Amino acid sequence: MLAETSAVAGLPANPSQPLYIVWKPEYNLGAPILDEQHRGVVSTINSLHHAMSHDTGKSVLRPIIGMVKDYTDIHFRVEEAFLAEFRYPGYGPHQELHNELRQELDKVGHDSLWHGDPYEFMQFLRTWWLTHICVQDRLYLGHLLAARPQASSR
Ligand SMILES: [Fe+2]
Ligand SMILES: [Fe+2]
Repeated sequence: MLAETSAVAGLPANPSQPLYIVWKPEYNLGAPILDEQHRGVVSTINSLHHAMSHDTGKSVLRPIIGMVKDYTDIHFRVEEAFLAEFRYPGYGPHQELHNELRQELDKVGHDSLWHGDPYEFMQFLRTWWLTHICVQDRLYLGHLLAARPQASSR
C-alpha cells in the first residue's frame, strides 16, 4: 500500500537515500561560477538518476534529460569563453573533450536511453564528469588564475 502510494505520487521510497554523486569540497576549482556550474551539472545528473531509479515515467524523464543536455552545454559555453578570452594554449583539445560529450549526449533520447543499460549510461556520466572536473578542468586553472586581469591595473 505504501509502495503503491509512493509510486503513484512519483516520490522516492526513501527520501534519505544518498545522492548518486555527492559533491566534495576537493571538486572545487576555486573559480566561483565554474564551481557553481559544475555543481549544477552534478545536480542534473542526480535528478536523472533519481527519476530513473523511481520509475517516474517518460513524461518526467524527457525534461530531465533535456535539462542535463542543456545545462551541460551552458557550462561548456561559459568555460570555453573563459579559455578563449584568456588564450589558454590547450583550448582546442579541451573543447574537443567537451564536443565528445556533446555528441554522446546528442545520441541520448528518452527512448534510446532504454535500449542499452541506463545504469551503464549513468556510470559513464559520473566517471566522465568526475574525471573532467578533477583532472582536465584542473589543467587550465593555473593559466586562468595567472592570466586574469589584476584589480590594480583597472
Ligand atoms: Fe571542461
Ligand atoms: Fe568544466
